[in-house]
Parts: sequence; structure tokens; C-alpha cells
Amino acid sequence: MGTLQAGAGGGAPGTEAVGCRVLAVGAAVPTPVVTNDRLADFLDTSDEWVRSRTGIRERRVAPPEQSLLDLAARAARAALAAAGLSGGAIDTVICTSSSIDTTFPALACRLQTALGCSLGPAFDLQAACTGTVYAAGVARALIRTGAARRVLVVGVEIFSRALDWHDRGTAVIFGDGAGAMILGTDADPGSDIVAVRLGADGGGADALWAADYAQVAIEPEVLAPAMAEPPRNLGRVVRMNGREVFRFSTQVLERLVIDLAADGGLRPADLALVVPHQANSRILATAASRLGLPPERMVQNVDHYGNTSSASVPLALVEAVQDGRCQPGDMICLAAFGAGLTWGGLLLRWGPTPVALDDPRQHETAARLAQIDRAATEPTRAVRER
Ligand code: ACO
Repeated sequence: MGTLQAGAGGGAPGTEAVGCRVLAVGAAVPTPVVTNDRLADFLDTSDEWVRSRTGIRERRVAPPEQSLLDLAARAARAALAAAGLSGGAIDTVICTSSSIDTTFPALACRLQTALGCSLGPAFDLQAACTGTVYAAGVARALIRTGAARRVLVVGVEIFSRALDWHDRGTAVIFGDGAGAMILGTDADPGSDIVAVRLGADGGGADALWAADYAQVAIEPEVLAPAMAEPPRNLGRVVRMNGREVFRFSTQVLERLVIDLAADGGLRPADLALVVPHQANSRILATAASRLGLPPERMVQNVDHYGNTSSASVPLALVEAVQDGRCQPGDMICLAAFGAGLTWGGLLLRWGPTPVALDDPRQHETAARLAQIDRAATEPTRAVRER
């Protein structure tokens, strides 16, 4: 792993850059829940194994009729509504996804039209699980130089269509969801972005790899049709060296938090909250312990969403704010890491920043939810007969 110092991203000394804030954060998740027990119906695994190694109890899986664009738009609309802004107030759109459904046009272009944003730049950026933080770093640079005024950043994943559901090493880890952040100038209320750090070390590219996976044709009667397919060529889906990723993730998370705190003239212990990429609970607990942070200051929601890659930091931030864990004046560190290998973090001084979570489960009855969840993992005959 290279030095993180090289990735510091402040303005050039002596220049008068425009201040940048996070104006609002939104998130969206699909309705169906897939528990570890349901995975164990067709995969050689157990709830006990998955929970003890990863902290994950369940994840959301997008139904067949839900597209990546739908999920991205729901998170973006949640953020826009929270901020009281219309799509037309956004001049730049940056999307990021580890489970992208088209090479071109960029998801950001499709989202720009869906939301009625103004005709400024719209582009996708690839930095795997670090994507949303990378995109926020780029957005901040655009805003500080005056090249953009309000930027929408969206990380969105339908990982369930990119996984080999017969590879127990990866199938149990990931989940579907979306997170959105609106960044603007300090003329608007929000949370100040005090510092940004972005970095990469392509020397570790082999540790986590997804190439050429085929988008799976959707069968209407089964929400997660990939689960019913015969094992696919592993070279075409996610490959992970779990131990290598574990080592990298714990080291880089610790380093990022120390460096970002230092950028703000602080020690890690001065941070009110760290909102890390939700890779797995053991990574987060190890990093918290090395940093000397009490576990409650390291936000975790991986238990109920799994690892939602680029969506995980905004999704965790929204829940932390809704739980009353971010108070005005708090110094908060967002920290992400992932394939590339990449890493990135933001140091925020929390201010009035509205958030919203679009979770359709909140509006369904228990009976209807049970039906939806059952349908999501109803094994097809092919799987039952294996
Ligand atoms: N259920 C049951 N057994 C399993 C499963 C499973 N889902 N997956 C693997 N195993 C088995 C293996 O086959 C192996 O069996 P064997 O001893 O008979 O060969 C045994 O468990 C141990 O396998 P390891 O891979 O050595 O397991 P490990 O203890 O390293 O745990 C894990 C694997 C959880 C992936 C761990 O390495 C880890 O947490 N790595 C971090 C990876 C991560 O979090 N990635 C997130 C995505 S990347 C990112 O977001 C940046």
C-alpha cells in the first residue's frame, strides 16, 4: 500500500477557494430482505458462519422490475426533497457503481434526465466501494474552483445481479442499495467539508476483481434469478482474496482516520463519529480498536444491509443522522476503501444537513413483507434439485 499522505486534497496554498458543503444526504433500499438462513437454503453456509465472520444478518435484494437507474433516482430524490431542491438546481451529476448495467451511456446522464437536472456535465466514476467518497472529492474540487455550484453524487448497487450465487465466499457479503449526496457552496446551509483525502494503489488490484460479468436475464417469478442458475464462470463475476482485503482494509481505515483528523488539527479521539464503508463488522471493530475509539463511535449498519459497496457510506450516514448521532459542530469522518485498491475520506464539520431514507418496508404490512421476502428467495426447481 502506498503512502496516504500523497492523496491529501486541499486547495493550493494561498488561493481563495470557495467553501464547499454537503447540503443533504439521501438513501434508498429495495424492499425484499434476504436473511442468511435463506441463503443457507441453497448455499453451503450458515447464519452462524456469516454473522460471526462478517456481522451480516441480512441484506436487501432488488426485485426484477427495479433497475439501477430506479434505485439511484430514489436515493437522489430523497436527498433533493430533504434539501428542498428541484432537479433543476443541480448542475453536475456524478454516479458511481460497482455493479453498473451499461458501459455507456453513463448512468449519470440517464439520471440527469430522469431528475430534470440542468444540462451541465454528467459522468460516471469508478472507484468501487470508494466511489461515492471519490465522487464527493471530485465534486468538492469542481465547486471550490467555481466550475460547479451544486453537484449530485450517487453511489448505487444492484450487486445481486453481479454475484455468483454459488460462490459462498462472496455471495454472503454484498447487498443492494443507493446513497446520494448533494454538495454545494458555503452560501447554502450544510456540513463543511474541512478536508479530503483520496488515494489508490493499483499494485493491489488482484485482491478484489470483477470483470465481464453478464447481466442476468430476469425471470418474473423469482426476484433473485441468479440464485437459480447453474454455477457460472467465476472469472466473470466477483473474485476476492478475503484475507488480503481484510489486511488492506483495516490498515487503510486506521490511516485514513488518523490523517483526516490531523488535517483538521485533531486526534482520532476528537472525532464524534467515523462513518466507514460497511465492508464487514470485524474490519470496523479492528480499526476502531487500533484507533482507540469506542465501538459506538464507529458507525455500523452492515448487519441489516450487508456490504452495499459505493452506497454504503451515505446509507450509513443517513441512519446515523436519523438516530441523532450527528450534532451541530461535531467533527465527523467519512472513510471508504475498496477495489483498485482505492481509499478516500472526508472530514466534515456537522451543520444543518437534512437526510432522508426511502425504504418501502416502512409502508408495508407485516403480512405483505413476509410475502415479498419469501418471493425474493423462492428457490426454483433447479436449485431444489441440486
Ligand atoms: N460459509 C461457510 N463457510 C465458508 C464461507 C461461507 N459463506 N465462505 C468461506 N467459507 C469457508 C472456506 O471455504 C474455508 O473452508 P476450508 O477451511 O474448508 O477451506 C473456511 O470457511 C475459511 O475460509 P477463509 O476464506 O480462510 O475464511 P476467513 O476466516 O478469511 O473469512 C472472510 C472470510 C469473511 C471473507 C474474511 O476473509 C474477511 O472478512 N475478509 C474481508 C473481506 C471483505 O469484507 N470484503 C468485503 C468486500 S471488499 C470491500 O468492501 C472493500
